[in-house]
Amino acid sequence: MRHLMNALDLTVDEIHDLIVLAEKIIQDPARFSEVCKGKKLATCFYEPSTRTRLSFESAMLNLGGQVLGFSSADSSSASKGESVADTIRVISSYADICAMRHPKEGAPYVASLHSKIPVINGDGGHNHPTQTLTDLLTIKNLKGRLDNLTIGLCGDLKFGRTVHSLIGAMVRYPNIKFVMISPEELKIPDYIRKDTLDANGIEYKEVNVLEDVLPELDLLYMTRVQRERFFNEEDYIRLKDSFILDSKKMKLAPKDMLVLHPLPRVNEIATDVDDDPRAVYFKQAQYGVYIRMALIMTLLEVIPEC
Ligand code: CP
Repeated sequence: MRHLMNALDLTVDEIHDLIVLAEKIIQDPARFSEVCKGKKLATCFYEPSTRTRLSFESAMLNLGGQVLGFSSADSSSASKGESVADTIRVISSYADICAMRHPKEGAPYVASLHSKIPVINGDGGHNHPTQTLTDLLTIKNLKGRLDNLTIGLCGDLKFGRTVHSLIGAMVRYPNIKFVMISPEELKIPDYIRKDTLDANGIEYKEVNVLEDVLPELDLLYMTRVQRERFFNEEDYIRLKDSFILDSKKMKLAPKDMLVLHPLPRVNEIATDVDDDPRAVYFKQAQYGVYIRMALIMTLLEVIPEC
């Protein structure tokens, strides 16, 4: 039995296999519609979520399985003081696989130690593995490759977990360059600069004007400045609108540059960008269902002969 805590728990080859499987699902979803008949997915979400929880549930339903779970700590016995270890012991006898999001880093890992079913980390303190897999599928399917890319990362690069995970995943492919666009206070943490970028000899630069670098990007990964990560409301208000991508700025970007965003967005992408064919963030959210279908089948070891 295998759990997924971090996208880097998967080798490049395993990620390739998941992407190939997801692309088969995109081509012929009906073929997979009964693969998980009789199986159940539990979604144990101790933190708010729209995409992660519902895309997991949609994925399992698309596979012919069923779903159960809770969407907040308040509506579970965690509110009475039950430990994650006890909860997963019980869920193990109710479901075949569990997706968990928890505000405490390490909680899904603790759950995995006490679980009799595969546990997928929905989003932990530093890791959001299924968002990273979603991003990789989006890039591969829409750009045609995961190598030879100049990737702009814009917004909150300090607290943005999706950005940290994406950097970790992309440095494993050849000829990846990063352009990091953020205010001084929200620059990428030193440990990522040193342990991931420098350690892998990755070319990168750090700037604070989006317009200057747009013409050189293959991908622009926008992120939200996350109010919930700030201790000080004044700092949040000062920084929240540091970068706003709009249709005027999009004129500076290459015709084939893709705009990704893990969502939810607040102000960082103006709605006048939504109809630009390069804006793929809603498609990206849809791809989240396909990659989670592939992941559920892989962890349950029920991949049909293809
Ligand atoms: N991208 C993402 O994790 O969205 P949710 O917070 O809505 O799950």
